[in-house]
Amino acid sequence: MSAEVQGVRDIDPGQAMTRFARGWHCLGLAEDFRDGSPHGIDAFGTRLVVFADSAGKLNVLDGYCRHMGGDLSRGTVKGDDVACPFHDWRWGGNGRCSLVPYAKRTPRLARTRAWLTTEVNGQLLVWHDPEGSSPSAELTPPTIEGFDEGRWSPWQWSSILIEGAHCREIVDNNVDMAHFFYIHHAYPTYFKNVIEGHTASQFMESKPRPDYTADPDKLWDGTYLRSEATYFGPAYMINWLHNDLAPGFTVEVALINCHYPVTHNSFMLQWGVAVQEMPGLPADKAAKLAAAMNKSFGEGFLEDVEIWKNKSPIENPLLTEEDGPVYQHRRWYQQFYVDAADVTADMTDRYEQEVDTTHANGLWQQEVEQNMAALARKLSTSTQSGSAGS
Ligand code: FES
Ligand SMILES: [Fe+2]
Repeated sequence: MSAEVQGVRDIDPGQAMTRFARGWHCLGLAEDFRDGSPHGIDAFGTRLVVFADSAGKLNVLDGYCRHMGGDLSRGTVKGDDVACPFHDWRWGGNGRCSLVPYAKRTPRLARTRAWLTTEVNGQLLVWHDPEGSSPSAELTPPTIEGFDEGRWSPWQWSSILIEGAHCREIVDNNVDMAHFFYIHHAYPTYFKNVIEGHTASQFMESKPRPDYTADPDKLWDGTYLRSEATYFGPAYMINWLHNDLAPGFTVEVALINCHYPVTHNSFMLQWGVAVQEMPGLPADKAAKLAAAMNKSFGEGFLEDVEIWKNKSPIENPLLTEEDGPVYQHRRWYQQFYVDAADVTADMTDRYEQEVDTTHANGLWQQEVEQNMAALARKLSTSTQSGSAGS
């Protein structure tokens, strides 16, 4: 008998990926690389070395020395070059071998790969393209307004290596309305995606679930989070968050959600939080708030991570009306995995979809109320038994 039973839907786990996305990828906070040492980064199935020259310019080279394969990130910075720990060959930021100290003649035409870099919002970005193109200026992620003028707290930055999942898993979340309730304990009351060119945006309004709030009585009824999040290319998202915390008190938060692939089955997830300084929120308080939010977003990402690590890859998700444009969003994502000449209009054409959240919210409201009632019952029983014993 055929193993295929009529009417049963099987998961298509798809083919393993064979290339890494074309696009700008953030490697971390630029300042962290300016400590005078070379830094090793495992990315794109290889190893990179990041180092600052004497003027502070950050350079990214292939990590393995072209002489005998030494790991440059274990070497030292000498002047404007990175020096290999094995035989002290020097490599400049342009990828050229600048000196072999013990040799009569330096092979000055020898070159290793130098990666294109840029700095945006205090972060170091590297351009990856298997075809070796240079990016047009419009592909650079935008500067957050006021960031360069110092109107935001310094970034509170974190990273975590996710193993056992392709980075498409996190990008899929961009259109996933329902997981915000189940995974992140929020009611999304408004949810819309707009896909266009190399960007994919999510507009969401949400409020916290009181059954997951430590002190629900203190929750102001108007506590709302208005969020605009945009992927600029495959791996760098800016999320503008407007937190209405009290009447007339809205805290402006910028969240960077970015990653770079390590292998086809692992990626480095990074996130950074900055809070806008304003009257009533001076620098020290903004920094403290950013730290607290970094921690709470980190907890949120860890909830996602548990899912990614244990789920199956799936090419044919079974969807309902409330699930958002998963297929359209994946087509958009696909543009970064094909040659530039093979990018088709259906990957980049503007597409927008708003998910009607009314039905879901009605049901979720009931679920939360039931949970709250159960919680209250539990609390009153424990108080009664407590008083009985005293
Ligand atoms: S391997 Fe790098 S100097 Fe020899
Ligand atoms: Fe998530």
